[in-house]
Amino acid sequence: KVYHDSDADLSIIQNKRVTFVGFGNQGSAQAQNLRDSGVKNIIIGNRDDEYKPKAEAAKFNVKSISEAVKDAEVIFLLIPDEVQHEVWKEQIKDNAPQDAVLVVASGYAYAFDLLELPASMSVVMAAPRMIGPGVRDRFVAKEPYPCFVSVEKDPNSNALPIVLSIARAIGATLGGAVESSCREEAGIDLFAEQALWPAINACFREAFNTLKAAGFSDEAILHDMYLSKEPAEVFERAATVGFFRQLKFHSPTSQFGQLRGTKNNDGTALRAKFEKVLHEDILSGEFAKFWSGAFTSGSSDLEQLWKESEDEPISQAEKRIGLHD
Ligand code: NAI
Repeated sequence: KVYHDSDADLSIIQNKRVTFVGFGNQGSAQAQNLRDSGVKNIIIGNRDDEYKPKAEAAKFNVKSISEAVKDAEVIFLLIPDEVQHEVWKEQIKDNAPQDAVLVVASGYAYAFDLLELPASMSVVMAAPRMIGPGVRDRFVAKEPYPCFVSVEKDPNSNALPIVLSIARAIGATLGGAVESSCREEAGIDLFAEQALWPAINACFREAFNTLKAAGFSDEAILHDMYLSKEPAEVFERAATVGFFRQLKFHSPTSQFGQLRGTKNNDGTALRAKFEKVLHEDILSGEFAKFWSGAFTSGSSDLEQLWKESEDEPISQAEKRIGLHD
């Protein structure tokens, strides 16, 4: 289902006391859009960091997070996903009104049960498929952008008109806001990050290793694989004419090679791996538990993984040809 401006009553959010927790990419864009949509009562809750003066400079009323949520009817939780559970537990949960409406811009924390929620609190999602500056710029230019919306928890049976009013106020119903869910949004997002792109990245890594072992030069391999920016062109066309149909822009030799090669590439093993990552790691909540824990304890392997990626032959080749300078 797709919701348009005509499905949304802007006056609902205009008349609420709204608090934004976070004034980063999404927070600054959405708070400004709401203000320009006629929402008068907006407070920004921000810790004492470099984002706080930005909110003050934008002429918002800025308080500490625990103060800002005290009287809120609607709370936007717009801080990074991996810290939401901790900030929620320590600064929001016991200070926010029990019957407030919580608004998330990604499904992660709610889908994986990381927030302890009062029974009478509603939860909705308005998740732009767009970076923060895009959410602001398009609103100002009156241009549409894609967005997912959902009602997740509705103890007061009034959450749908509220989230639609919010979606309209941030400019998300202009081009149509798509009904989704936290589970779907987070599931697809994490799947792309943990299954699809790792498989693509591994393909590029092994393609480089294969060609290098055959004695081809770093420059020639890397230029052909991606320094030419051909993959960017391919994805650009895939988004406009279709994933396979963009092949019509390639030579007949390329078309034949790609279509036959794809058909003969038995996806059984890959599919099994994808299923495992999706169900056992992501939808089970195992990954979210691990990642939130890693953040709380400050012991993620991210730095080590970065280091290992720098040691890959493909990265070493980039270094040799001066790409890292
Ligand atoms: P961001 O990284 O821009 O957030 C910065 C804000 O978080 C600042 O106000 C900062 O003070 C606060 N913050 C950071 N760490 C904190 C901590 N430990 N305690 C208290 N406050 C802290 O975040 P962004 O990118 O705006 O993401 C917010 C939400 O929007 C997330 O749920 C994200 O998944 C979602 N989202 C982000 C998109 C993007 O393009 N950046 C697109 C769509 C959704």
